[in-house]
Amino acid sequence: MESRLGILEKFSLEGRIALVTAGSGPMFGRSISEGLAEAGATVITASRSLEANSRFAEELRQQGYNAHPMELDITDVSSIQRLQDAVLEKFGRLDVLVNSALARVGGGFETQTPDDWLYSARGDMVGLFTICRAFVPEMVRQGRGSIINISSIYGVVANDPGLYEGTDMLQPPHYNFVKAGMINFTRYIANYYGKRGVRANCISPGGFLADQPAPFLEKYCKRVPLGRMLGNEDIKGAVVFLASDASAYITGTNVMVDGGWTSL
Ligand SMILES: NC(=O)c1ccc[n+]([C@@H]2O[C@H](COP(=O)([O-])OP(=O)(O)OC[C@H]3O[C@@H](n4cnc5c(N)ncnc54)[C@H](O)[C@@H]3O)[C@@H](O)[C@H]2O)c1
Repeated sequence: MESRLGILEKFSLEGRIALVTAGSGPMFGRSISEGLAEAGATVITASRSLEANSRFAEELRQQGYNAHPMELDITDVSSIQRLQDAVLEKFGRLDVLVNSALARVGGGFETQTPDDWLYSARGDMVGLFTICRAFVPEMVRQGRGSIINISSIYGVVANDPGLYEGTDMLQPPHYNFVKAGMINFTRYIANYYGKRGVRANCISPGGFLADQPAPFLEKYCKRVPLGRMLGNEDIKGAVVFLASDASAYITGTNVMVDGGWTSL
């Protein structure tokens, strides 16, 4: 039967258990975890440094939110299995899984090595697949779950080399490969599990404002329709929307949170 909740109530994540990989990371990880916590979810932040993670979870708790740090190395299948055990032992289920971790590899086209690509594949292909395999059955069991994969504008379009002129910033080619794959893998999960109550969507953000060099910032802001890079608050709305019942009929999509970058 159709829910009778009002629209704002449908955005509430009260009582939901959400896991964010790399959920205490200084850019997207923290924003995503904060957004979910602000909407009422109990947030599990999982990353390699349990110490940094614990500090961040404590910050959230001091603001009155529910947050639990756990350990995860997305490149290590046994670490994912340990996380699965820990989550299910502590909470008995998972309602929302946000895949934000990235097995970061540096370098550009001329300098990346096959080993760099294999490392990336361990985290961003095998790791992504394994963590979905770990938690989707629980979502199926309860007939409800939302997976949100954090891709990128570079999963949809290629880098504009002119943007990087006058800086030493590189354009790592594996990134486009895994981020594009992530978008279609998301559609696979959406189609495969939709009838069993599991939704899967991507969010593809534009560049997060950090300490990028001035020539890059100037060109980026001039090109992007909204005239600025993405900030701490900008991804929260899309994450909470896709995690919540407000998006109950949305699956298999890729939401661009890019200030219009890919509209040009
Ligand atoms: N920063 C941006 O401009 C931008 C733009 C679009 C998309 N994204 C995506 O957002 C997500 C978060 O990226 P970010 O820029 O906030 O941080 P980031 O790119 O520096 O790193 C991603 C996060 O993954 C964590 N991580 C690295 N190796 C890991 C491992 N083996 N196991 C578990 N965690 C690991 C890092 O600690 C970090 O918190 C990534 O998937 C990234 O591709 C970032």
